[in-house]
Amino acid sequence: MLLEVENLHVRYGNVEALHGVSLMVRQGEIVAILGANGAGKTTTLSAISGLLRSSAGEIRFEGRSIHKTPAHQLVAMGIAQAPEGRRIFGTLTVQENLSLGAFTQTDRVRIAKNLQWIHELFPVLAERREQLAGTLSGGEQQMLAIGRALMAQPRILLLDEPSLGLAPLLVKTIFQTLWEISSAGVTIVLVEQNAHAALKLAHRGYVMEVGKIVLEDRAEALLANSQVRDAYLGG
Ligand SMILES: Nc1ncnc2c1ncn2[C@@H]1O[C@H](COP(=O)(O)OP(=O)(O)OP(=O)(O)O)[C@@H](O)[C@H]1O
Ligand SMILES: [Mg+2]
Repeated sequence: MLLEVENLHVRYGNVEALHGVSLMVRQGEIVAILGANGAGKTTTLSAISGLLRSSAGEIRFEGRSIHKTPAHQLVAMGIAQAPEGRRIFGTLTVQENLSLGAFTQTDRVRIAKNLQWIHELFPVLAERREQLAGTLSGGEQQMLAIGRALMAQPRILLLDEPSLGLAPLLVKTIFQTLWEISSAGVTIVLVEQNAHAALKLAHRGYVMEVGKIVLEDRAEALLANSQVRDAYLGG
């Protein structure tokens, strides 16, 4: 098992946001995490990537306990998160933003090769490499956030709402690219409000409600599940 989260509890001050979340991700899988606003999806990703500390429970990556490992070390181990809200650096160029993503990498040849691959995935990032990131459209900034995470050459990519606020055509493009990234051997955990697109892409999915996993199944089964259809797929 590549990633195992077991009975994870996370609190913000005195308020517990995750009440014992357990999930697992196999090498090569695309796993979707669905749930309403405030369910704890972002909190779960941030705990995995080390941006938030758990108060109880365990996270293992390739069998190694990582819930006390600093975030930068997790990036070096192969865990990268592309944050929600496209948190890129607007006053830096596209290229500078991508370079920052490679901070754990030292092999220049590998970095250049990886950059070339990212430019193939998102040609617009090559076209606009000298442009300030803040001047990109929402969709382009989202691509840059994913590209930046990929610059770390992750084994597992954690994506938080990659389709948020994008026009339908662009959503299609992004999901197509996620498929290509997965085909290249990168395992993906995908948090999405766009449940239909996420389940079409994913192998398996988890549904969260108020800090807990309430359902887990193969993506096809979740797509057909009446509870999921009513709550997340518009009936
Ligand atoms: N920085 C914070 N300080 C205090 N409480 C927080 C903080 N961030 C999130 N929370 C709370 O933790 C719970 C889970 O939030 P989280 O952001 O993980 O949900 P989410 O599923 O990602 O929601 P959304 O779909 O809106 O992104 C919510 O009740 C939220 O209000
Ligand atoms: Mg969120």
